[in-house]
Amino acid sequence: MDDYQLLIERAVTRANTVALVGGLDSGKTTTALRMIRAALEHGRTTAFLDVDLGQKSVGPPATVGMKLVRSAADLEPAVLAVADSIYFVGATSPQGHLLPVVAGAASLLARAREAGAEFVVVDTSGLVSGVYGQILKYHKVDLLRPELVIGLKRGGELDPILGILNRFFATDVAALPVHPEVVPTSVEQRAANREEAMRRYFAEPLQRYRVKPTVFMPALPALFELEELDRLLVGLSDGAGSTIGMGYLEHSADEGVLRLISPVAEAPKALRLGSVRLDEAFRAKRVDLRNLFGTD
Ligand SMILES: Nc1ncnc2c1ncn2[C@@H]1O[C@H](COP(=O)(O)OP(=O)(O)OP(=O)(O)O)[C@@H](O)[C@H]1O
Ligand SMILES: [Mg+2]
Repeated sequence: MDDYQLLIERAVTRANTVALVGGLDSGKTTTALRMIRAALEHGRTTAFLDVDLGQKSVGPPATVGMKLVRSAADLEPAVLAVADSIYFVGATSPQGHLLPVVAGAASLLARAREAGAEFVVVDTSGLVSGVYGQILKYHKVDLLRPELVIGLKRGGELDPILGILNRFFATDVAALPVHPEVVPTSVEQRAANREEAMRRYFAEPLQRYRVKPTVFMPALPALFELEELDRLLVGLSDGAGSTIGMGYLEHSADEGVLRLISPVAEAPKALRLGSVRLDEAFRAKRVDLRNLFGTD
Protein backbone atom coordinates (compact mmCIF):
# COMPACT_ATOMS: atom_id res chain seq x y z
CA MET A 1 0.00 0.00 0.00
CA ASP A 2 1.37 3.46 -0.88
CA ASP A 3 1.07 6.58 1.34
CA TYR A 4 -2.01 7.70 -0.49
CA GLN A 5 -3.89 4.44 0.06
CA LEU A 6 -2.71 4.25 3.67
CA LEU A 7 -4.12 7.69 4.33
CA ILE A 8 -7.45 6.79 2.74
CA GLU A 9 -7.58 3.64 4.87
CA ARG A 10 -6.80 5.65 8.00
CA ALA A 11 -9.45 8.22 7.11
CA VAL A 12 -12.27 5.77 6.51
CA THR A 13 -11.57 3.67 9.59
CA ARG A 14 -10.85 6.43 12.12
CA ALA A 15 -12.52 9.69 11.08
CA ASN A 16 -16.15 10.79 10.88
CA THR A 17 -15.49 13.96 8.90
CA VAL A 18 -12.59 14.44 6.49
CA ALA A 19 -11.90 17.69 4.63
CA LEU A 20 -9.80 17.94 1.49
CA VAL A 21 -7.79 21.07 0.92
CA GLY A 22 -5.74 21.91 -2.15
CA GLY A 23 -5.31 24.36 -5.00
CA LEU A 24 -6.94 24.00 -8.40
CA ASP A 25 -6.29 20.64 -10.06
CA SER A 26 -4.73 19.05 -7.01
CA GLY A 27 -6.81 15.85 -7.05
CA LYS A 28 -9.32 16.82 -4.31
CA THR A 29 -12.41 15.41 -5.99
CA THR A 30 -10.68 12.22 -7.12
CA THR A 31 -9.45 11.64 -3.56
CA ALA A 32 -12.91 12.40 -2.13
CA LEU A 33 -14.51 9.82 -4.44
CA ARG A 34 -11.87 7.21 -3.60
CA MET A 35 -12.47 7.75 0.10
CA ILE A 36 -16.20 7.36 -0.33
CA ARG A 37 -15.68 4.11 -2.26
CA ALA A 38 -13.37 2.83 0.47
CA ALA A 39 -15.89 3.83 3.17
CA LEU A 40 -18.64 1.94 1.33
CA GLU A 41 -16.40 -1.14 1.28
CA HIS A 42 -16.06 -0.78 5.05
CA GLY A 43 -19.85 -0.70 5.29
CA ARG A 44 -19.99 2.89 6.56
CA THR A 45 -22.90 5.15 5.71
CA THR A 46 -21.29 8.01 3.85
CA ALA A 47 -22.10 11.43 2.47
CA PHE A 48 -20.36 13.71 -0.01
CA LEU A 49 -20.39 17.36 1.07
CA ASP A 50 -19.49 19.41 -2.00
CA VAL A 51 -18.43 22.90 -0.96
CA ASP A 52 -16.79 23.72 -4.31
CA LEU A 53 -19.13 26.19 -6.06
CA GLY A 54 -17.86 25.97 -9.62
CA GLN A 55 -16.68 22.48 -10.57
CA LYS A 56 -19.56 20.58 -9.02
CA SER A 57 -19.93 16.92 -8.13
CA VAL A 58 -23.13 17.30 -6.04
CA GLY A 59 -25.80 19.92 -6.83
CA PRO A 60 -25.80 22.77 -9.36
CA PRO A 61 -23.11 25.51 -9.55
CA ALA A 62 -23.45 28.39 -7.07
CA THR A 63 -24.61 26.04 -4.29
CA VAL A 64 -23.14 23.84 -1.58
CA GLY A 65 -24.48 20.31 -2.13
CA MET A 66 -24.84 17.20 0.01
CA LYS A 67 -25.64 13.67 -1.03
CA LEU A 68 -25.88 10.48 0.95
CA VAL A 69 -23.99 7.78 -0.96
CA ARG A 70 -25.60 4.42 -0.28
CA SER A 71 -23.90 2.35 -2.96
CA ALA A 72 -21.34 2.65 -5.76
CA ALA A 73 -24.26 3.31 -8.16
CA ASP A 74 -24.80 6.68 -6.41
CA LEU A 75 -21.29 7.69 -7.52
CA GLU A 76 -22.32 7.65 -11.19
CA PRO A 77 -21.79 11.38 -12.08
CA ALA A 78 -25.40 11.97 -13.23
CA VAL A 79 -26.74 10.34 -10.03
CA LEU A 80 -24.25 12.07 -7.73
CA ALA A 81 -25.13 15.44 -9.29
CA VAL A 82 -28.68 15.23 -7.88
CA ALA A 83 -28.22 16.48 -4.31
CA ASP A 84 -30.25 15.42 -1.28
CA SER A 85 -29.87 18.97 0.07
CA ILE A 86 -28.43 22.18 -1.31
CA TYR A 87 -27.56 25.54 0.24
CA PHE A 88 -27.75 28.58 -2.00
CA VAL A 89 -24.62 30.72 -2.27
CA GLY A 90 -25.45 32.53 -5.50
CA ALA A 91 -21.93 32.82 -6.89
CA THR A 92 -19.66 30.33 -8.66
CA SER A 93 -16.54 31.29 -6.72
CA PRO A 94 -16.13 31.94 -2.99
CA GLN A 95 -14.45 35.36 -3.35
CA GLY A 96 -16.79 37.89 -1.75
CA HIS A 97 -19.14 35.10 -0.56
CA LEU A 98 -17.26 33.48 2.30
CA LEU A 99 -20.18 33.79 4.72
CA PRO A 100 -22.77 31.71 2.80
CA VAL A 101 -20.09 29.17 1.84
CA VAL A 102 -19.18 28.50 5.47
CA ALA A 103 -22.79 28.70 6.67
CA GLY A 104 -23.82 26.28 3.91
CA ALA A 105 -21.08 23.79 4.74
CA ALA A 106 -22.06 23.74 8.42
CA SER A 107 -25.77 23.53 7.69
CA LEU A 108 -25.41 20.63 5.25
CA LEU A 109 -23.01 18.71 7.50
CA ALA A 110 -25.76 18.78 10.13
CA ARG A 111 -28.23 17.55 7.48
CA ALA A 112 -25.91 14.69 6.54
CA ARG A 113 -25.70 13.60 10.18
CA GLU A 114 -29.48 13.83 10.62
CA ALA A 115 -29.82 11.65 7.52
CA GLY A 116 -27.60 9.04 9.19
CA ALA A 117 -24.22 9.63 7.54
CA GLU A 118 -21.38 8.34 9.74
CA PHE A 119 -18.58 9.28 7.39
CA VAL A 120 -18.67 12.63 5.58
CA VAL A 121 -16.13 13.73 2.98
CA VAL A 122 -15.85 17.47 2.40
CA ASP A 123 -14.58 18.59 -1.02
CA THR A 124 -13.64 22.27 -1.14
CA SER A 125 -12.84 25.05 -3.60
CA GLY A 126 -9.28 25.68 -4.76
CA LEU A 127 -9.15 29.02 -2.88
CA VAL A 128 -6.14 28.33 -0.67
CA SER A 129 -3.97 31.39 -1.13
CA GLY A 130 -3.97 34.84 0.38
CA VAL A 131 -5.84 36.22 3.35
CA TYR A 132 -9.26 35.07 2.12
CA GLY A 133 -8.08 31.52 1.46
CA GLN A 134 -6.78 31.32 5.03
CA ILE A 135 -9.87 32.91 6.57
CA LEU A 136 -12.15 30.61 4.58
CA LYS A 137 -10.40 27.35 5.51
CA TYR A 138 -9.96 28.42 9.14
CA HIS A 139 -13.68 29.03 9.58
CA LYS A 140 -14.66 25.93 7.64
CA VAL A 141 -12.56 23.77 9.94
CA ASP A 142 -13.80 25.67 13.00
CA LEU A 143 -17.43 24.86 12.14
CA LEU A 144 -17.05 21.39 10.62
CA ARG A 145 -14.43 20.11 13.09
CA PRO A 146 -13.10 17.32 10.87
CA GLU A 147 -10.91 14.75 12.64
CA LEU A 148 -8.68 14.76 9.56
CA VAL A 149 -7.73 17.38 6.97
CA ILE A 150 -5.91 16.11 3.91
CA GLY A 151 -3.82 18.74 2.13
CA LEU A 152 -2.86 18.01 -1.46
CA LYS A 153 0.31 19.99 -1.79
CA ARG A 154 1.90 21.61 -4.80
CA GLY A 155 5.05 23.49 -3.85
CA GLY A 156 4.60 25.54 -0.69
CA GLU A 157 1.17 27.01 -1.45
CA LEU A 158 -0.62 25.13 1.38
CA ASP A 159 2.01 25.73 4.05
CA PRO A 160 0.30 28.79 5.65
CA ILE A 161 -3.13 27.11 5.80
CA LEU A 162 -1.89 23.75 7.07
CA GLY A 163 0.27 25.53 9.65
CA ILE A 164 -2.74 27.50 10.89
CA LEU A 165 -4.96 24.41 11.11
CA ASN A 166 -2.24 22.64 13.12
CA ARG A 167 -1.81 25.54 15.48
CA PHE A 168 -5.47 26.37 16.11
CA PHE A 169 -7.25 23.02 16.02
CA ALA A 170 -6.94 19.50 17.38
CA THR A 171 -7.62 18.09 13.89
CA ASP A 172 -5.04 15.77 12.33
CA VAL A 173 -3.45 17.40 9.30
CA ALA A 174 -1.87 15.16 6.68
CA ALA A 175 -0.18 16.41 3.55
CA LEU A 176 0.39 14.49 0.35
CA PRO A 177 2.08 15.73 -2.80
CA VAL A 178 -0.20 16.32 -5.79
CA HIS A 179 -0.17 13.16 -7.91
CA PRO A 180 2.11 13.58 -10.97
CA GLU A 181 -0.61 12.29 -13.30
CA VAL A 182 -3.15 14.95 -12.34
CA VAL A 183 -4.57 16.53 -15.48
CA PRO A 184 -5.25 20.30 -15.27
CA THR A 185 -8.59 21.73 -16.44
CA SER A 186 -8.31 24.93 -18.52
CA VAL A 187 -10.18 28.10 -17.63
CA GLU A 188 -12.32 27.61 -20.76
CA GLN A 189 -13.14 24.02 -19.86
CA ARG A 190 -14.06 25.09 -16.31
CA ALA A 191 -16.45 27.71 -17.71
CA ALA A 192 -17.91 25.15 -20.14
CA ASN A 193 -18.41 22.65 -17.27
CA ARG A 194 -20.24 25.27 -15.19
CA GLU A 195 -22.51 26.25 -18.10
CA GLU A 196 -23.29 22.64 -18.91
CA ALA A 197 -24.12 21.89 -15.26
CA MET A 198 -26.34 24.98 -15.08
CA ARG A 199 -28.12 24.00 -18.33
CA ARG A 200 -28.71 20.51 -16.98
CA TYR A 201 -30.18 21.94 -13.79
CA PHE A 202 -32.53 24.18 -15.75
CA ALA A 203 -33.76 21.35 -18.01
CA GLU A 204 -37.49 21.25 -18.84
CA PRO A 205 -40.06 21.01 -17.37
CA LEU A 206 -39.67 24.48 -15.85
CA GLN A 207 -42.24 26.20 -13.66
CA ARG A 208 -43.10 29.88 -13.95
CA TYR A 209 -44.22 31.68 -10.80
CA ARG A 210 -45.33 35.28 -10.41
CA VAL A 211 -43.07 36.94 -7.82
CA LYS A 212 -43.90 39.81 -5.44
CA PRO A 213 -41.10 42.33 -4.91
CA THR A 214 -41.29 41.85 -1.12
CA VAL A 215 -39.99 38.26 -1.00
CA PHE A 216 -36.27 38.92 -1.37
CA MET A 217 -33.19 38.65 0.85
CA PRO A 218 -31.56 41.12 0.75
CA ALA A 219 -34.69 43.27 0.53
CA LEU A 220 -35.03 45.56 -2.49
CA PRO A 221 -34.41 49.24 -1.78
CA ALA A 222 -37.23 51.79 -2.24
CA LEU A 223 -37.93 52.87 -5.85
CA PHE A 224 -35.93 49.97 -7.24
CA GLU A 225 -36.39 49.21 -10.95
CA LEU A 226 -37.50 45.57 -11.14
CA GLU A 227 -36.04 45.15 -14.62
CA GLU A 228 -32.60 45.26 -12.99
CA LEU A 229 -33.37 41.77 -11.67
CA ASP A 230 -33.88 40.24 -15.12
CA ARG A 231 -32.10 36.86 -15.34
CA LEU A 232 -30.63 37.13 -11.85
CA LEU A 233 -30.01 33.76 -10.16
CA VAL A 234 -32.06 33.17 -7.00
CA GLY A 235 -32.29 30.55 -4.27
CA LEU A 236 -35.76 29.23 -3.37
CA SER A 237 -36.58 29.03 0.32
CA ASP A 238 -39.29 26.88 1.92
CA GLY A 239 -39.76 29.49 4.65
CA ALA A 240 -38.41 27.03 7.22
CA GLY A 241 -34.69 27.57 6.70
CA SER A 242 -34.10 25.22 3.77
CA THR A 243 -33.16 25.84 0.15
CA ILE A 244 -35.54 23.87 -2.07
CA GLY A 245 -33.78 24.76 -5.30
CA MET A 246 -32.65 27.51 -7.64
CA GLY A 247 -34.26 29.63 -10.26
CA TYR A 248 -33.76 32.80 -12.24
CA LEU A 249 -35.93 35.89 -12.52
CA GLU A 250 -37.52 37.21 -15.68
CA HIS A 251 -38.86 40.73 -15.97
CA SER A 252 -41.59 41.38 -18.46
CA ALA A 253 -41.40 45.00 -19.60
CA ASP A 254 -44.93 44.89 -21.15
CA GLU A 255 -46.67 43.65 -18.01
CA GLY A 256 -44.20 45.20 -15.55
CA VAL A 257 -44.13 41.92 -13.59
CA LEU A 258 -41.43 39.67 -12.27
CA ARG A 259 -41.50 35.91 -12.78
CA LEU A 260 -39.44 33.11 -11.33
CA ILE A 261 -38.32 30.35 -13.70
CA SER A 262 -37.35 27.15 -11.90
CA PRO A 263 -37.40 23.36 -12.18
CA VAL A 264 -38.75 23.21 -8.58
CA ALA A 265 -42.39 22.07 -8.60
CA GLU A 266 -43.24 23.64 -5.23
CA ALA A 267 -43.86 27.41 -4.97
CA PRO A 268 -41.22 29.00 -2.70
CA LYS A 269 -42.01 31.15 0.33
CA ALA A 270 -39.08 33.52 -0.17
CA LEU A 271 -36.11 34.12 -2.49
CA ARG A 272 -32.40 34.72 -1.90
CA LEU A 273 -30.85 37.01 -4.50
CA GLY A 274 -27.74 35.62 -6.12
CA SER A 275 -24.72 37.52 -7.36
CA VAL A 276 -24.77 36.31 -10.96
CA ARG A 277 -26.95 36.85 -13.99
CA LEU A 278 -27.45 33.93 -16.38
CA ASP A 279 -27.23 34.74 -20.08
CA GLU A 280 -29.09 32.76 -22.77
CA ALA A 281 -26.32 30.14 -22.80
CA PHE A 282 -26.46 29.81 -18.96
CA ARG A 283 -23.15 31.56 -18.62
CA ALA A 284 -22.97 33.27 -15.23
CA LYS A 285 -22.00 36.96 -15.26
CA ARG A 286 -21.07 38.54 -11.94
CA VAL A 287 -23.33 41.12 -10.34
CA ASP A 288 -22.49 43.08 -7.21
CA LEU A 289 -25.75 43.59 -5.32
CA ARG A 290 -24.40 46.69 -3.62
CA ASN A 291 -23.81 48.32 -7.02
CA LEU A 292 -27.21 47.14 -8.22
CA PHE A 293 -28.92 48.61 -5.14
CA GLY A 294 -26.72 51.70 -4.96
CA THR A 295 -26.14 51.02 -1.23
CA ASP A 296 -23.37 49.70 1.04
N1 LIG B 1 -4.09 10.13 -8.25
C1 LIG B 1 -4.39 10.42 -9.53
N2 LIG B 1 -3.90 9.69 -10.52
C2 LIG B 1 -4.18 9.97 -11.80
N3 LIG B 1 -4.97 11.00 -12.19
C3 LIG B 1 -5.49 11.76 -11.25
C4 LIG B 1 -5.23 11.53 -9.86
N4 LIG B 1 -5.88 12.46 -9.15
C5 LIG B 1 -6.53 13.22 -10.04
N5 LIG B 1 -6.30 12.82 -11.30
C6 LIG B 1 -6.85 13.42 -12.52
O1 LIG B 1 -6.53 14.82 -12.52
C7 LIG B 1 -7.66 15.62 -12.87
C8 LIG B 1 -7.95 16.61 -11.78
O2 LIG B 1 -8.30 15.90 -10.59
P1 LIG B 1 -9.48 16.37 -9.65
O3 LIG B 1 -10.67 16.76 -10.44
O4 LIG B 1 -9.64 15.28 -8.65
O5 LIG B 1 -8.80 17.61 -8.97
P2 LIG B 1 -9.48 18.80 -8.14
O6 LIG B 1 -8.45 19.27 -7.19
O7 LIG B 1 -10.77 18.33 -7.59
O8 LIG B 1 -9.71 19.88 -9.28
P3 LIG B 1 -10.67 21.16 -9.27
O9 LIG B 1 -9.79 22.28 -8.88
O10 LIG B 1 -11.15 21.28 -10.68
O11 LIG B 1 -11.79 20.90 -8.30
C9 LIG B 1 -8.80 14.64 -13.15
O12 LIG B 1 -8.87 14.46 -14.54
C10 LIG B 1 -8.37 13.36 -12.47
O13 LIG B 1 -8.85 12.22 -13.15
MG1 LIG C 1 -12.69 19.20 -7.68
